[in-house]
Amino acid sequence: MADVTPAVDANGARIPLLGLGTWELRGRTCARIVEQALRLGYRHIDTAELYDNEREVGDGLRASGVARDEVFVTTKIWPSHFAPPRLERAAKESLVRLGLSEVDLLLLHWPNPQVPLAETLGALCKVKRAGLARHIGISNFTVALVEEATKLSAEPLVCNQIECHPFLDQTKVVAACRRHGLAVVAYTPLARGRAVRDRVLVEIGRHHGKSAVQVCLRWLAQQDVVVIPRTEKIERLESNAAIFDFALSDDEMARIGALAHRGGRVVNYAYSGAPEWD
Ligand SMILES: NC(=O)c1ccc[n+]([C@@H]2O[C@H](COP(=O)([O-])OP(=O)(O)OC[C@H]3O[C@@H](n4cnc5c(N)ncnc54)[C@H](OP(=O)(O)O)[C@@H]3O)[C@@H](O)[C@H]2O)c1
Repeated sequence: MADVTPAVDANGARIPLLGLGTWELRGRTCARIVEQALRLGYRHIDTAELYDNEREVGDGLRASGVARDEVFVTTKIWPSHFAPPRLERAAKESLVRLGLSEVDLLLLHWPNPQVPLAETLGALCKVKRAGLARHIGISNFTVALVEEATKLSAEPLVCNQIECHPFLDQTKVVAACRRHGLAVVAYTPLARGRAVRDRVLVEIGRHHGKSAVQVCLRWLAQQDVVVIPRTEKIERLESNAAIFDFALSDDEMARIGALAHRGGRVVNYAYSGAPEWD
C-alpha cells in the first residue's frame, strides 16, 4: 500500500481520505490494529472520548514508529461535556489519555440542545487557540445546525462527520457542508458490514476485480468524502485501503447512488434531545 493516501483540503485542514475507525476496538486489539494500520500506510485515526480507547490509540501510534506529524488524529467530545469550562477539561483529558500535546481534529460528537451552541463553539475555539487542537469540527449536525454552527464559530470548522454510505441519501447535508467548505467524513461507511453482501456492489466489484467493500469505499472517496472504515481484523486493513487504484464510471456511480432508500440509516441513536434526522 502506498505510504501516503490522498487527502482533501477543507478550510485550512488537509484530511487524509482514508482513516481507521476505532469504535468498539478495545485494549490490546485496538493498540495492535492502530499500529498495524499505520505500518501499512494509514495516516488518519478516528477515536472519541466515548470509545474508551484513546489510551490504546496513543499506544498504537507510538508502537508504529510513524512520526507524529505524519498522522492525522481525530477525537470527539461527548455532549454531556459541552458546557464550558467542562469542554476544555474534556479536551485536556483526551490529550492525556492519547499521550499527545495536540490532536489534529477535535469534534463535537453530537448536537446537544441543552447547551447553547454559541457557548460550546466559543469553548471549542478557545481550545483550538490554546493549541490543543489544530482544527475543529462537528459531527451529526443537520443542515440547519451546519448553517447555525458555521455562523457562530469564530474559527473555521473543517468537517461534519456523519453517517454516509450508499444506502442513505445524505445529499442535502453534504451540500450544506460543501457550501461552507467543510469536508464530509463518512462514518459507518460500510453500513456496519451490510455493503459486503449488496448485489449491485458485488457485481460492480467483479467488473473491476474488487470486493463490494472496496467499491463502497471507492464510491465515497471518489466524491471526496473521507472514509473511516473499522475492522478488528488485521488481514482486512490492507484490502480496505486498496481503493485508490481504480475508478468507477459515471454510470456505476449513479447505480450505487440509487441504492439509497428510506430506512437505510444504520445509526438511529440521537443524543438526548438532539434533532432527529428523518
Ligand atoms: N461520529 C459518530 O457519531 C460516529 C458514529 C459511528 C461510527 N463512527 C466512527 O466511524 C467508524 C466506522 O463506523 P462503524 O464502526 O460504525 O462501521 P463500519 O466501518 O461501517 O463497519 C464496521 C463493520 O464492518 C466489518 N468490516 C470491515 N471491513 C470489512 C471487510 N473488508 N469485509 C467484511 N466486513 C468488514 C467490521 O467487521 P470486522 O471487525 O470483523 O472486520 C465491522 O463489523 C467507527 O469505528 C467510528 O470511528 C462515528
